[in-house]
Amino acid sequence: DWTPASYVETTVNSLREQLGNDKVILALSGGVDSTVAGVLLQKAIGDNLTCIFVDNGLLRKDEFNNVMEAYKILGLNVIGVDARHKFWNDLKGETDPEGKRKIIGRDFIEVFDVEAHKIQDVKWLAQGTIYPDVIESVSVNGPSATIKSHHNVGGLPEKMNLKVVEPLRLLFKDEVRRVGRQLEIPAMFLDRHPFPGPGLGIRILGEVTEEKVALLQEADHIFIQGLRDADLYKDVWQAGVMLLPVQSVGVMGDERTYEYVVALRAVTSTDGMTADWAHLPYEFLAKVSNDIINKVRGINRVVYDISSKPPATIEWE
Ligand code: XMP
Repeated sequence: DWTPASYVETTVNSLREQLGNDKVILALSGGVDSTVAGVLLQKAIGDNLTCIFVDNGLLRKDEFNNVMEAYKILGLNVIGVDARHKFWNDLKGETDPEGKRKIIGRDFIEVFDVEAHKIQDVKWLAQGTIYPDVIESVSVNGPSATIKSHHNVGGLPEKMNLKVVEPLRLLFKDEVRRVGRQLEIPAMFLDRHPFPGPGLGIRILGEVTEEKVALLQEADHIFIQGLRDADLYKDVWQAGVMLLPVQSVGVMGDERTYEYVVALRAVTSTDGMTADWAHLPYEFLAKVSNDIINKVRGINRVVYDISSKPPATIEWE
């Protein structure tokens, strides 16, 4: 009879047995799975677990600081790495979506590798892999193989001669959330929407620049905070803003201006494989549009994406 409490107890015991006094590293992403894996391991082996959280310069507004703060409150032994400029630099000139993904994935491994080498005698790499990930990586044919590729720090275990430990390997997402609640992890982590590993890097269509990241962070923050304030966040499976490589005409005083267009994307779904556009209230969309246009200099037009998946995907790249 599966209960979160019994799962925590047996897993903590078996992790202790498996890991003994060995040192373990884990990449945290701010998402549900890696956070639950981290807290479970911390409970089992304490500060023999070192967590690494990388700011790739493509996170949401204030995400790095807010999440670091929350991790510390959870008692995790976490190293925050500000690698923003490395990612922004390496992304210069790249406009191809898969090219951007490759750069972001490669940079992540490089940064993680450097940090991991600073810790003496690491024996294990922990991963927040859950059961659907295990299934997906068995069928390596579909696009999911590429989608998930950045999740694990591919190639790193072999390169660093690390063994892999995956405490959530047999759980489904809702079970991970229940285990998370059992571990008293705040709702801020457990109820969040999925967010892609390449982050805002694939929501800025075309070339990524530091300036565009700053612009998109503001617009995204208005949309997501708006969903929370209107109590719509929980009704949506995933939401975000796309910064389009298009400038449209607007008026400011007597002047014609050319500024960016953003697209709001919000979908309902159960697994991300298929999705319908979220039928958000017009009044809500109107308010978000006004707020973005009035508060974010450089954006003068907001559109709403009413495409379903398939054939449209959730992300635009
Ligand atoms: P699409 O856009 O294919 O996305 O409908 C389905 C889900 O996967 C996420 N996604 C990614 N996640 N790395 C990730 O970790 C990626 O490169 C990536 N591309 C898309 C997307 O946000 C949605 O949740």
